[in-house]
Amino acid sequence: MQYRTLGKTGLRISEIGLGCASFWGKRVFDEAEAIRIVHAAVDRGVTFFDTGASYSGGNAEPRLGRALAGLKNRHELVVATKAGSYTDERGKWREDFSSSGVRRSVEASLVRLGLDAIPLLHLHGPDIHHLTDDLLDTLSRLKQEGKVRHLSANSFDEAVLEYVATLPLFEAVMIDYSVLRPEREPLIAKLAAQNTGITAGMVLGGGLYRSKLGIRRLQDAWYLARAWKNHRGDLRRGRALRFIDRQQGWTGGEIAIAWVLRNPHISCAVFGTTRMQHLLENLRASDRPLDAGMLARIAEAQRSFG
Ligand SMILES: NC(=O)c1ccc[n+]([C@@H]2O[C@H](COP(=O)([O-])OP(=O)(O)OC[C@H]3O[C@@H](n4cnc5c(N)ncnc54)[C@H](OP(=O)(O)O)[C@@H]3O)[C@@H](O)[C@H]2O)c1
Repeated sequence: MQYRTLGKTGLRISEIGLGCASFWGKRVFDEAEAIRIVHAAVDRGVTFFDTGASYSGGNAEPRLGRALAGLKNRHELVVATKAGSYTDERGKWREDFSSSGVRRSVEASLVRLGLDAIPLLHLHGPDIHHLTDDLLDTLSRLKQEGKVRHLSANSFDEAVLEYVATLPLFEAVMIDYSVLRPEREPLIAKLAAQNTGITAGMVLGGGLYRSKLGIRRLQDAWYLARAWKNHRGDLRRGRALRFIDRQQGWTGGEIAIAWVLRNPHISCAVFGTTRMQHLLENLRASDRPLDAGMLARIAEAQRSFG
């Protein structure tokens, strides 16, 4: 595993990270297997783990906490979690960017993760109007109190990410960037010019590049339904890229991750999985550059996105 520096934070993190969210965190997915996946990632040099208070109906973060509890080096890992969103008692996703809500969220995350400090806290999907002086003051105090080490924002909204990068309190952002989302590159270059650390989430584009989008297990149906609901255009983009899943000596997952890592401004490519085999395949993408021919074929397919 190779390691990169996360911009202004100065943190050294594994260039591939594990997303502890989505189906991985759901109660219907076997907890022992979810924990085995985390431990196998740690054993192979992964030091960056991304989760959130609201993910997987609220079960992802405490599940990651239980996985970390068995690890002697958990305080050396860079665990990123999110505040500003939560799952309510009826299982509904809610937003709360009030100062008291964000403080409550951070304090509860520390307990659920079993950590003394959150190494990287993302604000989860804020609008610019949420970033009040009052909230920034609370975030600054959480840092002074040692409860949060570094601050980031996770958003799909480019204007928000550009704005956050101008605020001295924020040292990093998390962006959705994958072979399905090449249009993020001008923004990535702009953020990197300010030395903002950048982690990329959903680096497999939800797995939509796969040559066959078959449903073998419950999670396959769940990911497809999510794409249909939230990222319908990605289904067409994925079909244009399915050739990456038919290459000799590479899996589609490796190519998708290697494509993200070819961008030197990305410090960590974060993917999600519920299959040990996929974890092992995807980690092979570290330090494995794509050749010019494959990069050209991918660029050609991306031109068809319009
Ligand atoms: N989704 C969001 O809106 C969002 C937003 C912000 C941040 N993030 C962060 O990004 C992380 C990853 O996002 P994500 O899990 O939603 O999407 P993703 O990593 O782009 O894709 C996950 C999908 O890819 C499949 N997959 C993984 N490895 C594979 C392989 N080698 N071959 C074939 N299929 C493979 C997974 O299926 P298997 O389970 O079968 O492997 C799953 O269906 C999250 O955990 C979170 O930390 C996500």
